[in-house]
Amino acid sequence: MKTEYLTEQELERAAKLLQGGGLVGIPTETVYGLGANGLDAEAVSRIFVAKGRPQDNPLILHIPEAGWLERYCERIPHSAYRLAERFWPGPMTMILPRKSFIPDVVTASLDTVGMRCPAHPLCRAIIEKADVPVAAPSGNTSGRPSPTNANDMLEDMDGKIDAIVDGGPCMVGVESTIIDLTCTPPRLLRPGGITLEQLRGVLGEVDVDPAVTRLMGAGEKPRAPGMKYRHYAPKAPVTVVTGDPVRSAQYIHDHAGETDGVICFDEFVALCREKSSRVVLNLGPACDQQEQARHVFAALRSFDHTTVPAIWAQCPDSTGIGLAIANRLNKAAGFHIVEV
Ligand code: TXA
Ligand code: MG
Repeated sequence: MKTEYLTEQELERAAKLLQGGGLVGIPTETVYGLGANGLDAEAVSRIFVAKGRPQDNPLILHIPEAGWLERYCERIPHSAYRLAERFWPGPMTMILPRKSFIPDVVTASLDTVGMRCPAHPLCRAIIEKADVPVAAPSGNTSGRPSPTNANDMLEDMDGKIDAIVDGGPCMVGVESTIIDLTCTPPRLLRPGGITLEQLRGVLGEVDVDPAVTRLMGAGEKPRAPGMKYRHYAPKAPVTVVTGDPVRSAQYIHDHAGETDGVICFDEFVALCREKSSRVVLNLGPACDQQEQARHVFAALRSFDHTTVPAIWAQCPDSTGIGLAIANRLNKAAGFHIVEV
């Protein structure tokens, strides 16, 4: 299959392809998504083939405005409207009871569905034009880091999808926050662009699913099926180093091998590279977590173009969007974490 490369001006073409059952790479503010008409079971099942995604991992439905919630969800709690008003359009997905006509392949036969209204204007325009809810996982091959620009998505999907729309680099860089509103108190299933602190500001008490901060045991079942899979992993093994940035940088300087890869804060690039031929990538300034979020996936991906035998990553603390960055790095490392 030849994958069409579309620009912003060609959003009608993208909408047509979606309506016709095609697979289209779409930009969102978080990461690029692999979209299909969420009401077309056959189209949706091709998403799983293109990504090599396990069938038991449900997809998120993307809608252009909160007004579409009632079309696909039932027994919507008041809290959903309060969250939508505060954070939509934006990087937040709500888990809600679903209507039964949504194809089972979208929800992996769960009785809930993830709903998200993305902030990227081009993304919303495409969905509005297609006039269907768009089922879209991140646009990577299953297990690889999510793509945060059109080129990274093409690296995984060229020849496997009908088209990709280039909407520029993603402004957030990590996937949406997933909040489950079908339990009491509501539960954070995946940290993302909307922070736990922001959610608590609206909802009060919010639980954090154990899968966010630790490896799931063999018999355990996380509430977001996707959180059980090894994820975001470059080919080389990753070690995450947490703690005070001056100490974690010094630890990496002392322990990384001569030709290892390193992801570190701006301030410590020279230290981590000192007298070695290490591949050192800059995550952004230690104090700028937004910048770090924008770089984390591209950094993990770029090591696959090198032969580094191992990767070391400095990790921000777990406040704000740092919780999401730490979660992605820890998952890439299979929760192989050193605390200094
Ligand atoms: O930012 C994002 O959310 C991106 C962009 C493209 O919108 N999408 C994304 O989708 O990250 P995906 O499929 O890569 O991750 C969705 C996660 C998976 O871990 C899945 O298990 C979980 O959401 N999920 C989806 N529906 C669910 C449901 N009904 N209950 C619990 N977890 C659900
Ligand atoms: Mg994903």
